[in-house]
Amino acid sequence: MKRIALLGATGSIGRQALEIVGAHPELELVAAASGSQAIEGLAPFTQVGGDLTELLERAQPDLVLNAVVGFAGLPATLWALERGVDLALANKESLVAAGDLALAAWERGGGRLLPVDSEHSATFQCLEGRSPEAVDSIVLTASGGPFRGRTRDELTDVTAEEALAHPTWSMGPKITIDSATLANKGLELIEAHFLFGIPYDRIEVVVHPTSIVHALVRFRDGAALAHLGYPDMRVPISFALTYPERAATPIAPLDLASGLTLEFHAPDLETFPMLALAREAGERGDTYPCVFNAANEVAVAAFLEGRLPFLAIAETVEETLAAADGAPARDLGDLVAADAEARRLAERKAAVA
Ligand SMILES: NC(=O)c1ccc[n+]([C@@H]2O[C@H](COP(=O)([O-])OP(=O)(O)OC[C@H]3O[C@@H](n4cnc5c(N)ncnc54)[C@H](OP(=O)(O)O)[C@@H]3O)[C@@H](O)[C@H]2O)c1
Repeated sequence: MKRIALLGATGSIGRQALEIVGAHPELELVAAASGSQAIEGLAPFTQVGGDLTELLERAQPDLVLNAVVGFAGLPATLWALERGVDLALANKESLVAAGDLALAAWERGGGRLLPVDSEHSATFQCLEGRSPEAVDSIVLTASGGPFRGRTRDELTDVTAEEALAHPTWSMGPKITIDSATLANKGLELIEAHFLFGIPYDRIEVVVHPTSIVHALVRFRDGAALAHLGYPDMRVPISFALTYPERAATPIAPLDLASGLTLEFHAPDLETFPMLALAREAGERGDTYPCVFNAANEVAVAAFLEGRLPFLAIAETVEETLAAADGAPARDLGDLVAADAEARRLAERKAAVA
């Protein structure tokens, strides 16, 4: 039996995880958490909001699936990494924000860190069993979101409703907006850097509209391994929850004879500046990725509430990064302070945008 704690049980990832857990008697849901929705009775231990590490202390799970959205997922990520409890990580924001602190906790704890993000699950699988010297680079694919192919001018008046209409993935609102701005791929770039220990100049992003290829790894001999499948998050969730068994899922195998074509092209960094801003924040290091994440969370919330135009999301993040000092975080206290200061700066920028 694997005793699972599911954080973010009411969300898009959380609901799909419940389906996977329900299909496998060897997976036991011992704890569940949400932010505000009632979940009483879902698991022996439940908690709504508050400090999720209290729930984890009570439940003592074998594996934590962190599917909380945003920086709020950070304490749970650090709790699992520090204790060597296996962590299935959907909450990319925590790894992006905590970066070096999270890696140090992971090293001390020695547990498994299993990515749930489809691109990172794909990369993890392409890298498994290979020596790091043989790896040349990683390629993350991006669908391009609902506004792929548009010019900057055509994005001036787009509404939250339009931005929420993702062409290939059905996800929670925050990550769907992140996909429309390409901030999601920026967060994933930083996430990949920390997960796989690869420098930024060896992580490439390409647009691949149908989301069939989730990632590729290029090797020094000129070969590239790719991970393919229909865009369905139950595959990487199941992979992480049942690792290393790779249990069966109800997802149909790829139908290659149906006229499947694979198309890739370079991202439009001018129309979608968030990807370049994330790369720059990642390369600068220290708390710049934390600042990028915090400013983005503030700007996305403001956009969803109708307080900020779509194009001002990137402007808010860019100006916040320029105003922040990006000083290194020695501990969680420093990081929480950097996050709070970035939110304060971003709120101020968003209010005048
Ligand atoms: N959806 C996808 O396909 C997908 C793919 C890759 C990665 N991810 C990542 O997975 C994470 C979750 O995404 P999602 O799309 O599932 O989001 P979502 O549908 O918005 O769900 C978010 C979940 O987090 C909970 N939550 C929010 N704030 C919380 C807090 N302070 N304490 C405890 N729980 C809190 C919510 O509870 P309430 O319902 O009570 O508010 C909900 O259960 C994000 O980091 C996202 O980037 C998602």
